[in-house]
This record gives sequence, structure tokens and C-alpha cells, in this order.
Amino acid sequence: MCGIIGYIGRQEAYPIIIKGLQRLEYRGYDSAGIAVLGDGEIKLHKCKGKVADLQKHVEGKDVSGTVGIGHTRWATHGLPNDVNAHPHYSGSKSLVIIHNGIIENYNTLRKGLEKRGYKFHSDTDTEVLINLVEDIQINEKVELPEAVRLALSKVVGAYGIVILEKDNPDYIIAAKKGSPLVIGINGKEFYLASDATPIVEYTKEVVYLEDEEIAVLEYGKDLRVFNIENVEKTPYFHELEMELEQLEKGGFDHFMLKEIYEQPRSVRDSMRGRISLDKSIVALGGIKNYEQKILNARRIIIIACGTSWHAGLVAEYLFEDLARIPVEVEYASEFRYRNPVIYEDDVIIAISQSGETADTLAAIEMAKEVGATIIGVCNVVGSSIARATHAGSYTHAGPEIGVASTKAFTAQVTVLTLMALSIANKKGTIPMNRYNQLVYQLEEIPNKIERVLELNDKIEAISSIFKDSLNFLYLGRGYFFPVALEGALKLKEISYIHAEGYPAAEMKHGPIALIDEDMPVVFIAPKASSYEKVVSNIQEVKARKGVIIAIVTEGDETVKELADYIIEIPESDEALMPLISVIPLQLLSYHIAVMRGCNVDQPRNLAKSVTVE
Ligand code: G6P
Repeated sequence: MCGIIGYIGRQEAYPIIIKGLQRLEYRGYDSAGIAVLGDGEIKLHKCKGKVADLQKHVEGKDVSGTVGIGHTRWATHGLPNDVNAHPHYSGSKSLVIIHNGIIENYNTLRKGLEKRGYKFHSDTDTEVLINLVEDIQINEKVELPEAVRLALSKVVGAYGIVILEKDNPDYIIAAKKGSPLVIGINGKEFYLASDATPIVEYTKEVVYLEDEEIAVLEYGKDLRVFNIENVEKTPYFHELEMELEQLEKGGFDHFMLKEIYEQPRSVRDSMRGRISLDKSIVALGGIKNYEQKILNARRIIIIACGTSWHAGLVAEYLFEDLARIPVEVEYASEFRYRNPVIYEDDVIIAISQSGETADTLAAIEMAKEVGATIIGVCNVVGSSIARATHAGSYTHAGPEIGVASTKAFTAQVTVLTLMALSIANKKGTIPMNRYNQLVYQLEEIPNKIERVLELNDKIEAISSIFKDSLNFLYLGRGYFFPVALEGALKLKEISYIHAEGYPAAEMKHGPIALIDEDMPVVFIAPKASSYEKVVSNIQEVKARKGVIIAIVTEGDETVKELADYIIEIPESDEALMPLISVIPLQLLSYHIAVMRGCNVDQPRNLAKSVTVE
């Protein structure tokens, strides 16, 4: 949700800023802009559209300078047009800002500034903030870092900001609250970005700025950090574990396809070191100290958004089935505003790929206040949610760049399966032989995913038949209900075809009215305890001339008779089948979207990391 990048050093800033924006583009792609400071001038260029449009726009223009900032936008205040694109100047044009987040009281601040003669050119909250900083700088006669601090103390909302000053080419100022900011240190140079992806090719030494901290990045000097109360802070240096190759497409046409194909490895990585050699003990180091709390939990509340919420639904089945702990799965955005009943002995599991989703973060803070234990399942190391939780287990999927989540989902389900198994084993709620079987079969999952990936050509052929459909229905029962929801979400996100996921039995209470010969219905129907019931549901659709695409267990004969198209996948315990059965749905939506000419990695209106409510 907006990507920001900054650089100060000896090199030309422009190529670094553009490359960084390309890496951050998954966070928003409504408009893009840069400002470079060189020869005593701010060279600001911005336009509607993607980073590639910005590059064209900048061609032949002066962008020289060794200090620079850049922004790729996901619009919140104001249309995505040239004027609202970042960076924004202050009134005198001596300051320039980029911003990720929302200033909630911008209207009040704007009215105050307007009374003092300030004029605004855009509809953005960001332009208000930079003028507030300038106003304070002039009236209080203070240096920029202090003016930023005083301005931020008047601000309500979320921000990750970077500010350049025309007359001060030696430093850039950054600050954050709610929105993430990572600073990379390479000798005397500094890099700064919304996440570490633009930084990793220059340095692995980073500092994650904390909320309400302000940083002064001065070329050749030590990083200076202080907080909004003007207390100096000692920055904590981290070593990045990310590798540059993880951020490239590696020969695939799209990041999404690459990430779908990475799943045998990412699922394996999510298990690595967590299953002991004798295969009987599942250990998750990150939550060891809180295991007793989970064992004694009155209930588990899972909070998440989007695909992570679907992983949470799978976990509901797992924890209830295996560990016999009642589970509620909540949309973070609903949970936080509902005045929910939370007990001290509740365990909250927050699931988030990015670790930055604003609603999930806010829900965590709320639950923390009443004393509940919060466990995080995040993919991005050092992210805000990972740091806000009491303990947690990382998913180790590696950076996920495609906006539609794929490998993060299977990694989340893997980690949650390990958690449920570990707790079930310790609680004694699972027979030893089932436990052993599940652990054994879990280790087999990456190989089985590989076998599903071999079906790519067949799935592509099926996709070509349905690429012009207007609607899709996805149906599943039990463990396959969340998979149906995830399949439908994938399709609508990237192909813009209307798709709905439903529990198969619930179909007859509404969606059945939609079924005719133009309605493709995807049944997730591998062998499981609900199999016979699903077969009946398939018959109900067939009787109404619906077109049936069925995901079935290899060798299934019954559904083969009924379905128009079948995709046969390897068998496993049904508790583990979400990990296998979601793969053909990811491929189906991928191919349909490609055939429809959609931008698979950057679908319209979406962003990967949603740092606003
Ligand atoms: C956005 C993304 C989804 C993601 C959701 C939750 O909507 O486009 O892919 O599932 O946010 O994000 P999180 O990072 O918290 O898992």
C-alpha cells in the first residue's frame, strides 16, 4: 500500500530509486514519482500509472543527483492522477515529501494552514503534512528534524515518510508510525524503503524503524534516531537473510507462476528443523515458551485478512479436529470494531504474509490490552506484526511478490498444521498412530505438490475453455470449504471474473438458483469423510445442467462419470489435503487471467500490503 524509497550517498540516486520502485511496485501502482537533489535543485517528476510510465515520462529530463526519494502509490485520498502522485512540495518548494499511510486529521490541519495563507494543489493528506512541517520550520525557527518531530506530534494517523530539503543535501529525514520503514546502512551511504527488497542488493545491514521514531540519515555520519518525545534512541542493527535471486522472476513469465512453482520448496522450508529426526516430535522454537498457554487456552481466536483468513479457516478445522480447542476465525477488520469478548486465557493467532496489514495489527493491539496471548504467523521477518506479537513462527516462504498470494497460503497452512499437531500431541487429543501418520504424510506433501504441478498443461487446456466465463462457483465441504473460498478469491483477484466460494451443502440455500449451462462449478472433491455428500451435491448441479470441473483423488471413478472435466491429484489424509488441492485452483486462475490479458502480478485496484484500514 504505497512503496517508498530513499537514497543518500555518492552514487547517482535515480537508477537506485527506479530499481527500488520496481521492487516495491507490488505495494501499489496507481502512480509513481521521484525527487532527486542535485546541483542545489530538487528535480521532481511524477505521473499517473506505473513505474514504467514514470521512466518514459522522465526520459531526456535532468535527474542527476546523489540524494533521492521515490514513491509508488495506491490511492487513498484523491484520484490516482499526476497531481496527487507523490512526491509533494511544500508551499515554498524548499521541502519535498513522500508518504505511505493516512493522516486522519488532515482536514482540520489543512483548514488551519489555509487560514494562514497556504494553498494546496492536490487532494492529498500528504501535501498538508509537508506544509505543516514548513509552517513550523518557519514560525518556530527550527531545523528540519525538529520541525518534523513537532509536526508529527500534531498528526493523527499512520505514516511512513521521507523528506528532502533543498538547502540541505547532506541529509534526509524519515519517520514512521503504523507504516513500515527499513533503513539500510552501507558504510557511509544510506538506503531506505518500505521493505527490505530494494535494499538487499546493496547491503544486508538494516535497522527497522519503530513507531514514532524519526531518523536522520546524514551521508558519512552515524545513523541518528530519536522519538517523538525527543529522546535519542540506539538503533538496533539486523542482518538480512533475504537473497537477491528470491526477488527475480527466474525465467518465469510472472512472479505468480514462479511462486506457484516454488511451493514444494517453500512448504519444505516451512517444515525444516521443525520435525525431529525420529519424526515423532514436532517443535516450533518460536512458540516454545508459550506452549503451555496454548495447551491451557479456553479458545483460540484467529485474526487475519484475505488469503491469510482462508489459511485461518483451515486452521480452525485442524485445531478443533486434532487438538480439540474451540476456534473462532475473525476478519481482523470486523473483530477490532465489534467490541469482542476476549479473555485473558484466550490465545490469539494472527496470520499475515506481509506482517503489515493495518487491520490485523490494530486487532492485535486491542487483544493485547486485555492480556490475551498473541501468536504470530508471518512471512516477512522483522515486520510490524511479527514484532507486535508475544511469540510466533515464521512461514519461511521467501519473499512473495505476486499480489495474489499463493506460496504464502500453503506455507501458512503448513505452519498451522505443525502447531495443531504439536499441541494435539502434547494434549493427548490425537491417537499416536494418527499423529505419526500425519507427520509422515506432511513430509510427503512437497513431493505431492510437485506431482500436481505436472498437471499444468492439462489445467491450462481446461482454462482455455472457461476463459470467457462471466461467473464461477467453487464448492467444497469440511477441509475443502476454505479451499473453495481461496480458489474463488484467486480467480476474481486476477482475472476479474465474478467467483464465489460456498460450502457445497449450502449451495441449495441460494447459489443453486444461479446454475445453468453457462455456470462453471468447481468442486473440490477428493476422497474425504464428506466425499459421498459432495457426490450428491455434484449430482444436484449436474441435474441443473451446470458445467462441472472437479478436483478429485487419483483414480476416482464416481466423480469422473459426473464431471465434465476432472483434475486428479495425489491422496493424503484429509487434514493435509488443503495443501495439495489448492494448487490446481491457483493454476486455473493464473492461466485464465493470462488468457484474458490481465496483469497477473499487479491486478487492478489491489495492493499486496494493505497498511490502511
Ligand atoms: C491483500 C493482499 C492479499 C492478502 C491480504 C492479507 O489483500 O492482496 O493477497 O491475502 O492483503 O495480507 P497479509 O499480508 O496480512 O497476509
